[in-house]
Amino acid sequence: MKRYDSIVGIDLGTSKTCIVIAEIVDEKNFEVIGAGTSDSRGINAGVIVNIDEATDTILDALDKAMEMAGKVRVRDVIVNVSGKYIKSFDTTATVNISRGKGAIITENDVKRVIDAARINASSGGDEEIIHVLPRNFIVDNESGIQNPINMSGSKLEIDALIVTGNPTSLRNLRTAFDNADLYVSDVVVNALASGESTLSIAEREQGTAVIDIGSGTTDIGVFSDGSLIYTRVIPGGSKYVTNDISIGFKIPFEDAERIKINHGNALPEYIDKSSTIKVDIGGIHQKDISVYELSKVIEARAKELLSLAKKGLDKSGYTRYIRNGGVVLTGGFSLLKGVDKLAESVFETSVRVGFPNYTGPLFEMVNTPIHSTIMGLLLYGIKNIDERDRRYNGPLDKILDFIRKIFGDIF
Ligand SMILES: Nc1ncnc2c1ncn2[C@@H]1O[C@H](COP(=O)(O)OP(=O)(O)OP(=O)(O)O)[C@@H](O)[C@H]1O
Ligand SMILES: [Mg+2]
Repeated sequence: MKRYDSIVGIDLGTSKTCIVIAEIVDEKNFEVIGAGTSDSRGINAGVIVNIDEATDTILDALDKAMEMAGKVRVRDVIVNVSGKYIKSFDTTATVNISRGKGAIITENDVKRVIDAARINASSGGDEEIIHVLPRNFIVDNESGIQNPINMSGSKLEIDALIVTGNPTSLRNLRTAFDNADLYVSDVVVNALASGESTLSIAEREQGTAVIDIGSGTTDIGVFSDGSLIYTRVIPGGSKYVTNDISIGFKIPFEDAERIKINHGNALPEYIDKSSTIKVDIGGIHQKDISVYELSKVIEARAKELLSLAKKGLDKSGYTRYIRNGGVVLTGGFSLLKGVDKLAESVFETSVRVGFPNYTGPLFEMVNTPIHSTIMGLLLYGIKNIDERDRRYNGPLDKILDFIRKIFGDIF
């Protein structure tokens, strides 16, 4: 039995918590039927810092999304994870296919080698493994195989990317959802989700970095040969820009946020030096602000945030992988005018702003770099729907199914 008629993604961001509910159309497609956003509380730089506040935020966003989606039952959710504890590294593993000459590799063999990679990666570390992402399979020493199922061979090897997080952080995340009566079926690292929704297949193959700069975190993901090959999270985001405006012009944070969005530009050289804007401060009095000076403040901090991302990438040694595809900048920070040009000068490669590639119903609501992560969570959900159904069809679930059949909708 299929459990899933819908997929629900939740993006726990530093500034906003967003929930999108989508109806599954077929094994590859979904349609958005509801979305709700709430200002985040209890979440800072990708990490839950107050469980009760985070639960309230989740419930608030959920109410809004469900109001829009109509009558749907939401229990299982796919959630992003970010923060300074996220790490990635490579591992390998091997299993023998000992069923005689010419044995055909099955799905179960692939599962075994992935499990072996997980075991290899977990030895000696306290971190929790979030993903084991196959990069390359090797069958009888033949490398570069993306899907070994149905090939014949006697030895199956895997090169995989392991993504880990801090166990306490992940426990807090699950508790916040438990308290909202929601079950986290999948945790997905932020950069994987953002890459999933914004990168084309060609970009993922050629080698491209997705850099999602939100309000408080910079999530870096490098994709090559079709898979995520590196991820890292750096503290720092667009609220630092707002903070500088607030301090520099002695205005409240909320007003600084508004003028950044409405008048901000990361390229002062294109701004008329005599141009000023009248800004309502706290709704009480007005102040004249030079648009050029505003742009200078924005440029300085934006350049710093981008340089930190570049430094992180260079330090990782993965910059050479992005020579063909360049950088796809996404997250709310990428909406800043002129930021793509500024980023090109910092990264010394081509940069484009990444929007989620979604064209279905309600696309006008979700087709923004602010929603790259959440749309990626839904794509991740639909790609892994069989795996989730299989988990659902375990022995306990079969019993629950039986009880459901008898007692109808009580469960
Ligand atoms: N049009 C715009 N121009 C400039 N900045 C914008 C614009 N729209 C949103 N932002 C900024 O984007 C940020 C929010 O981005 P986003 O929603 O991606 O962050 P988040 O997911 O909540 O946080 P994080 O991913 O860092 O945890 C805010 O700082 C906001 O000021
Ligand atoms: Mg975000």
